Amino acid sequence: MRLIAAHGAPVFVIGTPLSHTLSPLIHNVAFETAALPHRYFALQVQPDELSRFVDIIRQLDSPGANLTLPHKEKICSIISDRDPEVEQLGAANTIYNHAGKLRLANTDIYGFSRLLEPWLHKVRDSGVLVLGAGGAARACLVALQQLNCQQIFLWNRTPEKALKLAKELGGSSLQTLGDSALQSGQFAAAVVVNATSVGLQEPEPEIFPQKLIQPGMVGIDLIYNRSTKFLQNFQQCGAENSDGLAMLVYQAARSWQLWTGQKPPIKAMFKAINDRVKES
Ligand code: ATR
Repeated sequence: MRLIAAHGAPVFVIGTPLSHTLSPLIHNVAFETAALPHRYFALQVQPDELSRFVDIIRQLDSPGANLTLPHKEKICSIISDRDPEVEQLGAANTIYNHAGKLRLANTDIYGFSRLLEPWLHKVRDSGVLVLGAGGAARACLVALQQLNCQQIFLWNRTPEKALKLAKELGGSSLQTLGDSALQSGQFAAAVVVNATSVGLQEPEPEIFPQKLIQPGMVGIDLIYNRSTKFLQNFQQCGAENSDGLAMLVYQAARSWQLWTGQKPPIKAMFKAINDRVKES
């Protein structure tokens, strides 16, 4: 059996639920801008359908796919070829075709590093505080270690998870922070990254005390398309701040490059996203 796609093989993002994904918009604009025949679709795939999905993209000769919850870890037991970042994170967000074989990549580390670009000097010289110890926090921490950040502080609501993550990642620059040390500002960090999901909660709990924010600091919330209380607090204190939209675009651009072998049309990708955000 061999499926033949009429206008270039499709590329998918798979997950469940998938209702609000912006990935089709970013990737379809990129394919159109580069005059490539592929189209990108969001497809709900249940965990027990994952192997079948992999067979289907092989049959379609698809350039690959993106993976989101709950498939990012399980895919590692199905496709054994993988980039080093997948080993570091224990999770993949991209399947691509590497010399005729399907291979896994994780482009979140790249995406986060690019988001940090405007503040690289602060990241390297003044320390970074990461809030959270889930998959998103892990990608941030690996990126910060790769950027040779001298001092990384890690806080999590459940301290055991922060300790476990710090132990797994190792490195002398990474240290965990308890509740009282966080609340009383016993850390030296000019950049604070919120890698928790609190910004999606109503009401949003204040996990980083506003009294600790100084005008020279930078607040980054990985959640995008939402003015979280965390970001509003930085704005109110005259401090720079950013949501996670740039990370979304850069991680997408990296996946796109792996699929096509071409330089991604990054300006068009950002424009599409910014136009959509303005509309909403
Ligand atoms: P992801 O893979 O996107 O990082 P996750 O693994 O579910 O998602 O992690 C969510 C993070 O948000 C965790 O660090 C979680 O803290 P716990 O480890 O204590 O659960 C954090 N989080 C969620 N709700 C929170 C809240 N109300 N206050 C503080 N941290 C919260």
